[in-house]
This record gives sequence, C-alpha cells and structure tokens, in this order.
Amino acid sequence: MKAVRFSEYGDVDVLRVEEIETPEPGEGEVLLRVRAAGVNPIDWKALHGLVAGGQPLAAPRGLGVDVAGVVERVGPGVEGLAPGEEVCGNPSTASYAEFALARPEMLVPKPPGLAWEVAGSLGVVVGTAYATLEVLKLGTGETLLILGASGAVGSVATQLAVARGVRVVGTAGPAKLEQVRVLGATPVAYGDALAERLREAAAEGVDAVLDCSGHGEIVAAVEVKGNVDRTLTIASSKDASDLDVPFHAGGGGEQTTAALQETMPLIEDGRMSFPIAGVFGLSQAGDALRESEHGHPAGKLVIVPA
Ligand SMILES: NC(=O)c1ccc[n+]([C@@H]2O[C@H](COP(=O)([O-])OP(=O)(O)OC[C@H]3O[C@@H](n4cnc5c(N)ncnc54)[C@H](OP(=O)(O)O)[C@@H]3O)[C@@H](O)[C@H]2O)c1
Repeated sequence: MKAVRFSEYGDVDVLRVEEIETPEPGEGEVLLRVRAAGVNPIDWKALHGLVAGGQPLAAPRGLGVDVAGVVERVGPGVEGLAPGEEVCGNPSTASYAEFALARPEMLVPKPPGLAWEVAGSLGVVVGTAYATLEVLKLGTGETLLILGASGAVGSVATQLAVARGVRVVGTAGPAKLEQVRVLGATPVAYGDALAERLREAAAEGVDAVLDCSGHGEIVAAVEVKGNVDRTLTIASSKDASDLDVPFHAGGGGEQTTAALQETMPLIEDGRMSFPIAGVFGLSQAGDALRESEHGHPAGKLVIVPA
C-alpha cells in the first residue's frame, strides 16, 4: 500500500509517499481501506520530533490519528464488524495511508449521509472536546472561557458547552471573531492586553478555562479567573507545568465512541458546524501539515488517499 512516511524528524520536506506492506489484522483488529484521514496538530508536532521526548527516531514512521474507512478484513476474535461496513474513529496504525488497522472499540458506524471527509476528522476533536468538558463539569449558567474557540477542538467544545446551557467566552484571531459569535460564544480577539478584554467580556467572572490554543493566552486567563481551579490545557505541556494547570493528554480515550455517537447526528442535521477547509492527496500531506501549523485554517484539513 502507499503510505506517508518519514525516517528523520524535520519539516515537511522529509515526508515521502512510500510503498510498504499492507498490515494484516491481528487478534481483535480490523483492516480499514482508508477513505479519509483528518489532519491534527499532533501530526506536525510528531513530524518535528516535538512529542518524542528528545529520543531519535528508531524506525520510519507514519502519521495520522483519525480515520474513516471501509472494513476490508477482520482479524481473529472480532465480532460485530464485517467487510464492507463503513466506520470512523481512531486507528491503531498511521492513517495517512491506503490502509490502516483499528480496534472495533475505537470505531463507530459512519452514518450513510455523513461525508467521508467529516467522518474521518471527528475522532480526536470530538473525543477531546467531550472529555475535557466532562472534566470541567460545567453547570447551566456558568461561564467557560475557551482559548482558541475558533480552532477544531475549541469550536466543537464551544458548541457542546453552549448546547448544555453554558455561557462561553472564546478567543480567536481577528478573521474568526464572527465565526466564534455564530457558534454561540462571546468572541474576544487574542493578542496584547488580552486580560483587559477578557474582563470586559466576562464581567461576572470566569468559572472554568479550557486552553485549546497553547499560544500562552492561559497566563491572562488565569489572571482574570483569579486561580487555576477548573482550568485545563490540551495544548501546552510547558504552560501546564509553569502554571500548575492540569494537562489533558490523549484525546477522548474510551469516551471517544460515546462522544461520536452524541455528536454525529448534530453535525449531520446541521445543528453543529464542522467545516472542512481543505482536502489533500497523500502526496500533498506536506501542504496539509504546513497549512495546519501556519495557515489558521477555517475548518478541518483532510487527507484522502484515493
Ligand atoms: N491533548 C489532547 O488530547 C489534544 C487533542 C487534540 C488537540 N490537542 C492540541 O490542541 C491544540 C488545538 O488543536 P486543534 O486541532 O483545535 O488546532 P487548530 O484547529 O489548528 O486550532 C488552533 C487554535 O489556536 C489559535 N491560534 C493560532 N495561532 C494563535 C496565536 N498566535 N495566538 C493565539 N491563538 C492562536 C487558532 O486561532 P485562529 O485560527 O483564530 O488564529 C485556533 O483557535 C493543538 O496544540 C493540539 O495539538 C490536544
């Protein structure tokens, strides 16, 4: 099969589309023919070696932690999934490839009406947004400050929180303030003198903070909130340790399938906005990663292998 791979950490120029052996599903695994693989910041962070803990790359590796596809083969012990079924969720091997392995418990059926590009982009974003809101335990009428409310995770977290009756104040760049307002939040532009603007937007105070940007706004957020209780970052382990704020690592984990089941109908019938900002082939994976890192995309970027 064709797969996007790299043999050394670096920029997108170290990426290659290589011909490698198609993996065989082992016990409790299925092989998926990948129809769409969402691009996430963790992909370019992995490429740059930022999540390697300083260790060199031991062997060539691939990218992609989201998937939608068609079951091609099932391994021993798999029940409830058969070849031909359409599914989405988190794979267990890199999904910027023609095929990927996955465990059935990390997959949900893809609704027939849901676009492949959307289905293949949901797992990490929806699982993370859902799981972090569970940790922050917001009640109706409370105020949640979301840093990066215009991003993929931030915009889903904003919509889930608003739907639960939470008041959301959300930061964004100047081009996306209106987009954040449409999601139901009070938008605040990030940048200099942020604390002042946050105090104005949340005059009654902030009950919880969710940092989905990792660009240092959490310092102003903690200043405005007055303490680090019910404050979480998913985006900067450095800010987490500097400020003694919990870092939420690892997407939605076991909650991902529950999160997908709750969220997919909302996206399908238009109650939740989940825009796709760009679709790329395997050979364009570098362009997609560059856009994710530097482009402030107005929605998810997706790799479509076919
Ligand atoms: N720990 C986990 O489980 C987990 C899971 C998923 C994601 N993450 C992390 O969460 C972060 C967001 O992921 P995502 O998929 O939502 O990414 P994304 O869609 O690229 O969103 C990035 C967000 O950061 C904002 N931003 C960009 N440059 C900024 C700047 N200079 N100052 C302030 N804000 C800025 C963007 O705002 P504008 O576009 O309006 O400029 C946008 O709201 C990433 O660091 C990712 O690795 C962690």
